[in-house]
Amino acid sequence: MSEVVNLKIDGQAVSVPKGTNVLEAARTIGVDISYFCYHPGLSSPAVCRQCLVEVKGQPKLVPSCYTPVAENMEVSTASEKTLVARQQMLEFTLVNHPVDCPICDKAGECTLQKLYHEWDHKHSRVDYDKVHKPKVVDIGTHIVLDAERCILCTRCIRVCDEVAKESELTMAFRGDREQLTVAPGKRLANPYSINTVDVCPVGALTSKDFRFAMRAWELYTVPSVCAGCATGCNTEVHHAQGQIHRLIPRENQAVNKFWMCDEGRFTYKEVRVRRVAGARVQGEPASIERALSFAAERMSALRNAGPDGAQLLGVVLNAQASNEDNYALLKAAIALGTDRIYLAGRPPRPEREDAILRHADVNPNTSGVRTLVSTLATGKAKGAPQLAMDLASGSLKALWILGDHVELDEEALEALRALDVVLYQSPHENVISERANVVIPSSMWAEVNGTFTNAKGLVQRIRSAVEPPGEARPHWQLIQMMCKKLGVAIAWPNVRALFNEMKQSVPDFAQAEWGREAPLVQLRFAGSRG
Ligand code: SF4
Ligand code: SF4
Ligand code: FES
Repeated sequence: MSEVVNLKIDGQAVSVPKGTNVLEAARTIGVDISYFCYHPGLSSPAVCRQCLVEVKGQPKLVPSCYTPVAENMEVSTASEKTLVARQQMLEFTLVNHPVDCPICDKAGECTLQKLYHEWDHKHSRVDYDKVHKPKVVDIGTHIVLDAERCILCTRCIRVCDEVAKESELTMAFRGDREQLTVAPGKRLANPYSINTVDVCPVGALTSKDFRFAMRAWELYTVPSVCAGCATGCNTEVHHAQGQIHRLIPRENQAVNKFWMCDEGRFTYKEVRVRRVAGARVQGEPASIERALSFAAERMSALRNAGPDGAQLLGVVLNAQASNEDNYALLKAAIALGTDRIYLAGRPPRPEREDAILRHADVNPNTSGVRTLVSTLATGKAKGAPQLAMDLASGSLKALWILGDHVELDEEALEALRALDVVLYQSPHENVISERANVVIPSSMWAEVNGTFTNAKGLVQRIRSAVEPPGEARPHWQLIQMMCKKLGVAIAWPNVRALFNEMKQSVPDFAQAEWGREAPLVQLRFAGSRG
């Protein structure tokens, strides 16, 4: 057990582990000390002096972000001396700031704006021309710098050095000419570069993808998990008017701490494009009911054709889909009597793996599907190469496929056309939807409630943030409708009931939690980031 230190902050007794800084110790009793350069996930250089506090017995104010607690220490965070010093530091920070909040992307979630309103709220005493610095500087793949807005806190430099392990940013010049810039010969191009935007307390670093797209306070936030790879970074999905505008990381010390990779942030874009709008049968628009009836008739005919009829049917689970969706299809396969179970998903990309967050498996739920199959079915799910071989050999007459990224070669794709029925539940139009004789629109990760299991076996909750387009529905609902038509008794009143059943049937999921429903929160000066 770590050693505990006892001290007093503003007269209140506080006990915290040894090594805690005064700023964090104050937080434990609900005392918020203002700060700019401190970040709990980075080192503390104490450069902004916005967090000054008075410590009894010390002649000068001390930065609370940098000062560790000591036994019997007495701290004042709200003495007149402290408040005046913090107001003066804030005024100093603002001296050369352009205050272009009306056109700044950080407005509404800017720490400088927030602290000005909370602590200072006075007119500027500057009646001369401010120091001008470069604006709209393209410093990297995804980032634009406005050096005038920069308050020289160095958080962005530290996030590159300490998280991405790439020293791409630095400070140049001194005094009021000091400015953030890229290191000589460098660009801000590391795979974690957009974390600099999150940690920037002002609008000096903006993401090219989000610049001028939306005001922060118009966004709503929903907690979820990145679908970009098997790490399962925790995210906030920021959306408005039915569209997702950005993903940002959500703190989870066990998974991603405070960070996520750039590639993961852009996974929201696939929610918008090439979506299947409505059901089709043999290329013609149809209702979902009619499309499922068509598929059910053909599958039932095969099942009833002989003692091995069920083995003519294969099901394709998907590492891109939730545990609940895969569980539903696996239950259907078991009830139908087939053990021809395949697993689809994006092929691995070993070159992207690093020791930070990025995983070679670019599917969010491979571990979950493998656990389900090994627990509930006999043997393992077969991969796409075996599916291609079985299609080429003609041993399959029907396929029920869940989702995208079924990686088949041209010969196997053409073999799909020869099957009696290919029931394809897909969010996207692709080479399979062109060939399947029954296509049903399905929802994506940002449109459903469910869970993913990350590479470490942690079952994490995903939440519906936006409505799916057209008639798209969650896979598990479509599977349930199909089972009814096949005369298979599988039904759940809602996805949570499905999750509870799965949790009871799969020992590895016994500790999984569905979690609370997240109320829709609008980002109104939330101050939750930065
Ligand atoms: S750009 Fe932002 S994060 Fe970087 S030093 Fe300036 S204010 Fe700090
Ligand atoms: S590391 Fe993986 S899970 Fe994390 S943000 Fe990147 S793609 Fe998403
Ligand atoms: S937050 Fe403590 S000196 Fe900047």
